[in-house]
Amino acid sequence: MPKISEKGQRMPESPIRKLVPFAEDAKTRGIKVFHLNIGQPDIKTPQVALDAVKNNDIEVLSYARSEGSESYRNKLAQYYKKNQIDISAKDIIVTTGGSEALLFTIGSITDFGDEIIIPEPFYANYNGFAAANGIEVVPIVSSIETGFALPEIEEFEKLIGAKTKAILICNPGNPTGYLYSKKEIEKLKALVLKHDLFLIADEVYREFVYDNMQHHSIMTDKGIDQNAIMIDSVSKRYSMCGARIGCIVSRNKEFIQTSLKYAQARLSSPTYALLASEAALDTPQKYFDEVIIEYVERRNTLITELNKIDNLKVSKPKGAFYCIAELPVEDADDFAQWMLEKFSDNNETIMVAPASGFYSTKGSGKNQIRIAYVLNKESLIRSVELLKLALEQYKN
Ligand SMILES: Cc1ncc(COP(=O)(O)O)c(C=O)c1O
Repeated sequence: MPKISEKGQRMPESPIRKLVPFAEDAKTRGIKVFHLNIGQPDIKTPQVALDAVKNNDIEVLSYARSEGSESYRNKLAQYYKKNQIDISAKDIIVTTGGSEALLFTIGSITDFGDEIIIPEPFYANYNGFAAANGIEVVPIVSSIETGFALPEIEEFEKLIGAKTKAILICNPGNPTGYLYSKKEIEKLKALVLKHDLFLIADEVYREFVYDNMQHHSIMTDKGIDQNAIMIDSVSKRYSMCGARIGCIVSRNKEFIQTSLKYAQARLSSPTYALLASEAALDTPQKYFDEVIIEYVERRNTLITELNKIDNLKVSKPKGAFYCIAELPVEDADDFAQWMLEKFSDNNETIMVAPASGFYSTKGSGKNQIRIAYVLNKESLIRSVELLKLALEQYKN
């Protein structure tokens, strides 16, 4: 039989989706499963975006420009200006989701065997994008004790070697909910300048910042023009995960020209989704204000309820819509599967994402899960009640 590539075999399974068959099986047994495992918000997509797809006179569904239309990129630049990010259309390449933005970015800046340093736990698919590009993720541990704050810069420095090409952060963080402060971003800037590295910031959760805190983008000041690359997406901002539109932003011309070649090779992003994404930029501020209020209430409800469980540790997220909880179990993978296979209360159970897949250090996060608070408050309260009951019944 022809042989599958080493690269392909190294591609990790998604920790968010690998329990899906067990959840499907539970559902066929008539059990309701509360999905806390995936960051698919239940918030309505802005009407302006939906209307743009419904009300148009397109007769030929043609390719779009590889880098995205001039009008969309100009409007994106205006949106960024409102967010204190002074860039222009030429600094943007529109992609098919933040996922493709990450793939193009890693492809453009690394060669086989190169390394990218990432604070862990991190968005699990970074492992997949690294494997697809034949590069190594070098993890640097952040801890639940500090709420997943930026590790000490000296620790980063110890990991920098000849193969290091970049530091990648997610701000606000999936799966940690941590929001890096201006001071932390400044420390990273100084570090990448000193070692001539790229700094990639995945800012797809920029709008989801709570408690009157400010998001500080790596693109805000121009001291690291040649090093800074920002990843963005419409998926979470406008609850448009299915549109599959994102972008890469950088003032580094050579990097943008290289990424454009990747964009040209895949021709273009989907035309209808581009229409919706451009229209979504006209979403009124009121939409975001209401969404933030909803997420703050959900977060507060979730954290209050989780704190009622004995021997459970959780740090309060400052942004995004996830948190990591440390459970009094040895193997959260086994526990998560057990909740789907063997546990139910009144025909209900929950699905969570075991956190081990968000680490690349073997054995890390074994007793942790990631919870996405993308369900309404009543469902969250019931979900935590189910978690508590399950913990009481589960035998390590
Ligand atoms: C941190 C982070 N980056 C990137 C993505 C990719 O998003 P998309 O490809 O839908 O834009 C996600 C999706 O959940 C994410 O959580």
